Amino acid sequence: MKQLTTKICLLGDFSVGKTSLVRRFVESRFDESYLSTIGVRVSRKTIELTTIIPTTLTMLIWDTAGSEAFSTIVRTYYQGSSGALLVCDLTRTDTLASIGTYMREFQSINPGVPFVIIGNKVDLESQRTITDELIESAATTYGTPWFLGSAKTGAGVEQAFQALGTVICNQRSSI
Ligand code: GTP
Ligand code: MG
Repeated sequence: MKQLTTKICLLGDFSVGKTSLVRRFVESRFDESYLSTIGVRVSRKTIELTTIIPTTLTMLIWDTAGSEAFSTIVRTYYQGSSGALLVCDLTRTDTLASIGTYMREFQSINPGVPFVIIGNKVDLESQRTITDELIESAATTYGTPWFLGSAKTGAGVEQAFQALGTVICNQRSSI
């Protein structure tokens, strides 16, 4: 089994659920309270991937605050990443529009790296404003896979991180 360590970032507007997704994926738990991330928090999780070359992938997951401007400090957070999970909140339409900006900023530091989009908070069905069609159309424009998920229920979370890990590994083994 091939071993690989990779740095990924969580990108998206404030309060879309970046920290909650990491918490669900790494610690299998959820917290209702909102405490905006200050600076950066790095978590680690190892997963096994049945990629072209079966790989044990250790993900170093960098989670920053969404409200932070694209500053020198944010550039240093992004540096050396192999991919990013783009997060929008399905109950706030503007959070999908922001994804393009995060992609461009991230790609200016890490050219050619893959992205995966996750529409988070799918459990809040009655408040949902971003439809499947909207998110699919954005994903098609950007050429990225997309998932619906919920840090609260855990739905789709593992799948989104797995998908990002898989595209990262497949990209590396095709170089
Ligand atoms: P910043 O650090 O400020 O950029 O925010 P963030 O993107 O890290 O958001 P965070 O994970 O702190 O979540 C914001 C709020 O949304 C919290 O109150 C969470 O409990 C809530 N939340 C996150 N994910 C979900 C979800 O899937 N469903 C529901 N119902 N609430 C969620
Ligand atoms: Mg956060």
